[in-house]
Amino acid sequence: MSDPFQTTVEQAATLLRAGQLCAFPTETVYGLGADATNPDAVLAIYETKGRPRFNPLIVHCADLAMAERLATFSPLARQLAHSFWPGPLSIVLPLRAGHGLTDIVTAGLDTVALRVPDHPLALDLLRAADRPLAAPSANPSGKLSPTTAEQVHRGFDGKVPVLDGGPCKAGVESTILAVDGDRLVQLRAGALSRQQIEDATGRRVELAEAGAAIAAPGMLLSHYAPNAGLRLNTTPMPGEAYLAFGPLAPHNSLVRNLSEAGDLHEAARNLFSMLHELDAMGAQMIAVAPIPETGLGEAINDRLKRAAAPRA
Ligand code: TXA
Ligand code: MG
Repeated sequence: MSDPFQTTVEQAATLLRAGQLCAFPTETVYGLGADATNPDAVLAIYETKGRPRFNPLIVHCADLAMAERLATFSPLARQLAHSFWPGPLSIVLPLRAGHGLTDIVTAGLDTVALRVPDHPLALDLLRAADRPLAAPSANPSGKLSPTTAEQVHRGFDGKVPVLDGGPCKAGVESTILAVDGDRLVQLRAGALSRQQIEDATGRRVELAEAGAAIAAPGMLLSHYAPNAGLRLNTTPMPGEAYLAFGPLAPHNSLVRNLSEAGDLHEAARNLFSMLHELDAMGAQMIAVAPIPETGLGEAINDRLKRAAAPRA
């Protein structure tokens, strides 16, 4: 196929380093890439895909050395990386102190999903960008994952630059595996089979229960939930913490303002850190101001609703 895109690795790396998005090929599907250390760049992924919820994103690394700067690898995790990287295995591991990733990419969790993609252009790009890249599939939310540069180009009406690496080999996303002590739990089936993982490690791969957060003791929660309860679309009662949005009169209680200017992008950027902060102050209840249900507001409200849902 002729190349209508013309983006070179150098140009793509320059865009990504400047906080812009650029789609790139991997062996599984094309990814919509952003600098995983830059909150605004990662938020642009959500804005561009029209994704209505904040899920943690897979962070792509050039090699194991880059990955080990972001997360703590047990011997078992390192064995998996040696066996399957570069390749279609994403490994969920505890974040390491000083990792530098934005909390938008981990959705406020203390774990991160990492992989080294098996595609020469992706690896060239990761080395040239010299930083980890968040990259969900490069399609508008609800559409099929793209396996050619042309599909990416059309999917986003030509608005997203694409590095063209030809058709993807696998066509399905990477397998996601949580490593928790001695346990291996498959969180998403993908291009690498359970059998291959079991053969390489000599360990059984458990299946995460469909749809359920992994809630067994010591296991990785798939969604950050504060200890405090949340009351939404409201103002605080005495003793409650307050997560505000928009202009606010001076206030004595525990307050964080997602955006005094009422800017949803700024609010999204602050969401996880402010929830963590209010939670760390030990409030029993956090009252949350109404957030408009437009643009990123949809993802913010989805996250807040799930954080407010009753828990066992
Ligand atoms: O093949 C692939 O993996 C493609 C290509 C572009 O590399 N990327 C991809 O990334 O599918 P993404 O960001 O869409 O994958 C997101 C999923 C989340 O929905 C969640 O299931 C899982 O990765 N995930 C990410 N971080 C996690 C974490 N800390 N704990 C549990 N699951 C996590
Ligand atoms: Mg996808």
